[in-house]
Amino acid sequence: MMPRLSTQLILSTLIVPFVFGQNLLDIYKAMMIDQAARAKAPPINIEFFGESLCPDTTRYFRNHIMPVWTALQASSLINITYHPFGLAECRRSDSIIRCNCQHGPAECQLNMLQACVISALQFPQLYLPIVNCMQGKSQFSAAIDECIVNFRPRPDLDENFMTRCAQSQLGAKLMMQHGYRQREVASELDWVPWILINGRRSQAAENQLKTIVCSFSEPSRYEYCKTTEDPIF
Ligand SMILES: *[C@@H]1O[C@H](CO)[C@@H](O)[C@H](O)[C@H]1NC(C)=O
Repeated sequence: MMPRLSTQLILSTLIVPFVFGQNLLDIYKAMMIDQAARAKAPPINIEFFGESLCPDTTRYFRNHIMPVWTALQASSLINITYHPFGLAECRRSDSIIRCNCQHGPAECQLNMLQACVISALQFPQLYLPIVNCMQGKSQFSAAIDECIVNFRPRPDLDENFMTRCAQSQLGAKLMMQHGYRQREVASELDWVPWILINGRRSQAAENQLKTIVCSFSEPSRYEYCKTTEDPIF
């Protein structure tokens, strides 16, 4: 069952102007629209599903997603979307959402925090470094301190609001939305990280994201793609 109101809509109209410097977000939106308009071809869509305390997901962020993102994010060649959910389960009863996560309650807390950040910042170009920083943190307070309060460049996020979001029904609802997306496009998921390249599962991308991305004709012209895949551990 899909929720009646789009959380994205609720957030963008009510919450984003409140937690995020409106001007910065407007400027960023304009940049994104301009970048998309100038792009010669649609981007390579990389959509991936993981869990905040899953070591394989953490390695995937560090060794694959972030290097590719760092090298190519300024181009409009790639569009990376992350969904913190994986082998979690959420159910709604008496209008209360309760979630269970593979690595226990601490994972749900951190997934919800990542979901709150994704929702507030909207664009992968903005949220990926912060979500990557939070990924794998065993302490919720460390995720807030290191990835919001002391993060450089400082994201324009309110740490108190993000904490309340993550520890409330709003966080649960946002995480559940990622679960809906997962059920829609990766219903057979039994493992994370689970990667879709242009809507199709790619097992090869689990070990060789750079090689896969660089096999497309546009990125293959970039300097980054002229070197071989970094060694992966
Ligand atoms: C980026 O990916 C998301 C999720 O797959 C999709 O909704 C969005 O339309 C994509 N953007 C572009 C410009 O293709």
